[in-house]
Amino acid sequence: MQVNCFINGRCEEVLRSFDNCSVDFVLTSPPYADQRSYGVDNASIKPDKYVEWFGPMAREIYRVLKDNGSFVLNINDKVVNGFQHTYVFELVLFLCKELNFNLVRDYIWHNPSTPPNIYGTGKYGRTKKSHEYCFWFSKGDKWTFNLDPIRKKYSPDMAKYLEGKGKGGREDNIRPSTHSFNCAVKWTNHGGADPGSVISIANTSSNDTFFKLCKERGVLHPARFPVQLAEFFILSGTNEGDLVLDPFSGSGTTCFVAEKYNRKWIGIDANKDYCDLALERMKLDL
Ligand SMILES: C[S@@+](CC[C@H](N)C(=O)[O-])C[C@H]1O[C@@H](n2cnc3c(N)ncnc32)[C@H](O)[C@@H]1O
Repeated sequence: MQVNCFINGRCEEVLRSFDNCSVDFVLTSPPYADQRSYGVDNASIKPDKYVEWFGPMAREIYRVLKDNGSFVLNINDKVVNGFQHTYVFELVLFLCKELNFNLVRDYIWHNPSTPPNIYGTGKYGRTKKSHEYCFWFSKGDKWTFNLDPIRKKYSPDMAKYLEGKGKGGREDNIRPSTHSFNCAVKWTNHGGADPGSVISIANTSSNDTFFKLCKERGVLHPARFPVQLAEFFILSGTNEGDLVLDPFSGSGTTCFVAEKYNRKWIGIDANKDYCDLALERMKLDL
């Protein structure tokens, strides 16, 4: 199987030529329901039909993943007839109940720079939505997970505790939420804290080198996820040399990050202009 390439085609067809159990990690963001068509026929999917549309692709993803492989799905829902549609949750149930994926963790990608929109008037009975979902599924009961590369800096208070200078220990801490502190695990300096399940990354890349390339080429991908989001999952979910697949690769963010960290990669996209653009992106400074 050829690696480190973009394949122009519909992933439900392209994936059929991949061997069973040949991919270590899938990170992808398919078109969300009722949103852009990206110049691809039938890519604007009604929310009620979403699970039916994504099902065959998800089956292929399951088949090509290695037994210890993972699948991270970045997706969002939308408000339909006044209420948030449940297709994302129906999809998660389908993936787990029908395809046997295991849900490892539901991550929230919080975008603190979500611009003000109609919800800002208050008259729609809800706030704006400033997050998307990133569901991490495993195929089997073992999967690669490296916490060290995604650890964050300890808070000043925690750093004090780790130096033995904090006030009191786990047993006598005075927080109201004592439940998680009195367990038998000792506080140990791991070089950084567990970042938790809310990933806060502003999606503001209008000044980056890639954006400038897009403007030069006159091809702008409207729905890229940030490089840091791909870094979070690729660094934690794969090892050097692993094969990372993005079956809806768009501007190639997943593949760009995989290359940067010495992973093998394959991107698939139904729009040829995006494949060409993504290939150009790989030549940019990493
Ligand atoms: C949300 S975008 C992915 C963006 C990507 N994560 C990035 O950072 O640039 C979804 C992509 O899926 C592509 N697409 C739509 N239907 C497809 C299909 N059946 N097979 C492969 N790609 C498809 C679109 O052309 C679009 O680029």
